[in-house]
Amino acid sequence: MPGAERNTALYRWRLAASVLAFTSAFIHLALAPAHWKESAAFGLLFAGAAGALIACGVALIIVPTRRWYMFGLGTVAGSIAVYAVTRVVAPPFAQGREPLEPLGLLTKAVELGLLISLAYLVRAEGSQATAPVTPAAADPAFTRRQFFRTGLTAGLGLAGAGMILGRQRLGHAGPGPQLPGYRPSALAGLSHGHATGVAVARQHPDAMDPMTFLRHFDYGKVTRGVRGQTTREYRLVAYPKEVEVAQGVVFPAWTFNGMVPGPTLRATEGDRMRIVFHNGDKHPHTIHLHGIHPANMDGVFEQIPPNGSYTYDFIAEPFGLFVYHCHTMPVTKHIMKGLYGTFIVDPPGGRPPAREMVMVMNGFDPDFDEENEFYTVNGITNYYLEHPIKIKVGELVRIYLTNMTEFDFINSFHLHGNMFKLYRTGTRLDLYEITDTVILGQGERAILEFRYKYPGNYLFHAHVNEFAERGWTGTFEVARA
Ligand code: CU
Ligand code: CU
Repeated sequence: MPGAERNTALYRWRLAASVLAFTSAFIHLALAPAHWKESAAFGLLFAGAAGALIACGVALIIVPTRRWYMFGLGTVAGSIAVYAVTRVVAPPFAQGREPLEPLGLLTKAVELGLLISLAYLVRAEGSQATAPVTPAAADPAFTRRQFFRTGLTAGLGLAGAGMILGRQRLGHAGPGPQLPGYRPSALAGLSHGHATGVAVARQHPDAMDPMTFLRHFDYGKVTRGVRGQTTREYRLVAYPKEVEVAQGVVFPAWTFNGMVPGPTLRATEGDRMRIVFHNGDKHPHTIHLHGIHPANMDGVFEQIPPNGSYTYDFIAEPFGLFVYHCHTMPVTKHIMKGLYGTFIVDPPGGRPPAREMVMVMNGFDPDFDEENEFYTVNGITNYYLEHPIKIKVGELVRIYLTNMTEFDFINSFHLHGNMFKLYRTGTRLDLYEITDTVILGQGERAILEFRYKYPGNYLFHAHVNEFAERGWTGTFEVARA
C-alpha cells in the first residue's frame, strides 16, 4: 500500500499497534510454560495466541494490508471475549469463575489498545477513497470480513478447546498444585502452577511441617495506638491445595494459607484484631470465629465470593481457646475440606510460662463417602509417633487442644503415665478437673497442663481406639531435666 506508506500518521498507528501486539505476545509466551505444566492444552492455547499476535505484529510493519488488520482484530477480539466470559460468568464446563489477576488485566488493557489501533487503521485507510485499491478490496474471493471471521474463529476455537481439555484434566485431579506440599516445609515455598493463578502468587510462606506448626503462633502485625490500644493484623488467604495426610495419600484440600489446619492466631484479651481475608478459591468462603464480636464480624451472612476480600475487625474477648472456620453452606463440606484453625485469646496477665503447643484433632475423608478414613492431630497421620515431641521432666507443658473433626460426633485425648489439669474452653484460670482423658464434641476446646515425673517415652492418642489406629497417635519423649 504505497499510499499508506507515505502517510506518517498512519505509519505511527501501525508502529504503535505492532508494539502492542508484540507486548501481548510476549506476556502470552512468558505465561505459556506455567500453563503447560497445568495442562498441555493450556500451554498450547497461550503459545498459539502468542504466535498469532507475533504474525500480526510483523505484518503491521512489512505487509500492512487490511486482511492482516482484520485477522489481528479477530484474534484480539476472540482473546478479550474469552477472558471476559471466563471472568464474568462461569462457563458450563468450568468449576467457577476465573479470578481477575493483575497481569491478566494488564494484558487485556494492551489488547484493548491494539483493538482500538487496528479499528482505527481499518477505518482510516478505508476512508482514503482516492487511495489505490487495496489488495483486500480488490479480491472479492477472500474479503476482509472473511479474514476477521477467520481470526475470530481461530481465537475462540483455540481458547475453547484449550479450556475444555484443561478443565477436564483439572476437574479430575481436583484443583491445586500437584506437590505434596505440607509435609516437607522446604517444598512448601517452591510451589507454583495453580489453575487460578492466584495460588501461585499467594503461596503462603507459613506452610509448615507439623513439628513447626505445633509451636507456631501467629501474633499478627502489631501496631500500638496513641491510647495504648494494641492492634494485630493477620492475613488469611483461602485457596485449594493438595496436602499429603498419610503416607502416599494426597487430599485435595481447601486451605487457609496453604495449611490444614490453618495457622494458629493469637492475641491478648482487649487487643483489636484485624483479620484481612482474601478468597483465592473458586468457591465462596468466610471466616467464622468463635468468641464475642459484632454480627457482621461473625462470618456467616457476609459470604466472600471468589477473589473477594473482607476484614474481620473486632476486640478480642473473652480470653480463652477458640476455633475459626469457614461457614459457607454446606458447612460440613467446607470444614471437611480443611478450612479451620485455632484462635487463642490470652488473659491480660498471661498464663504461667510453659512449653506451649497446639493440637488440632481432625479427620480426613479422601474418598468423599462422608466417613473419615484418617484421623490426625495437626494434619498428618502418626506424625508425632514418628517424630516424638521432646519435653523435659518437671517442665510445665500446656496443650491448646481443639476438635475440628467432621462426621464423628466426638474425639478424645488420652495421656499415658500422667494426669493433666483440664481447663475447659480456657475461659477460667482455675482448673476444671484433674484427669487423663478428655472427650471433646465437634468444635469444642480445652487447655491441658501437665508435668512428667519420670523420663521415658509416653504415648498420647484418641481414646476412641479406631481413631488411634487410623492415625491419631503420638509420643512424648521425656528427658531428664
Ligand atoms: Cu468455605
Ligand atoms: Cu464453629
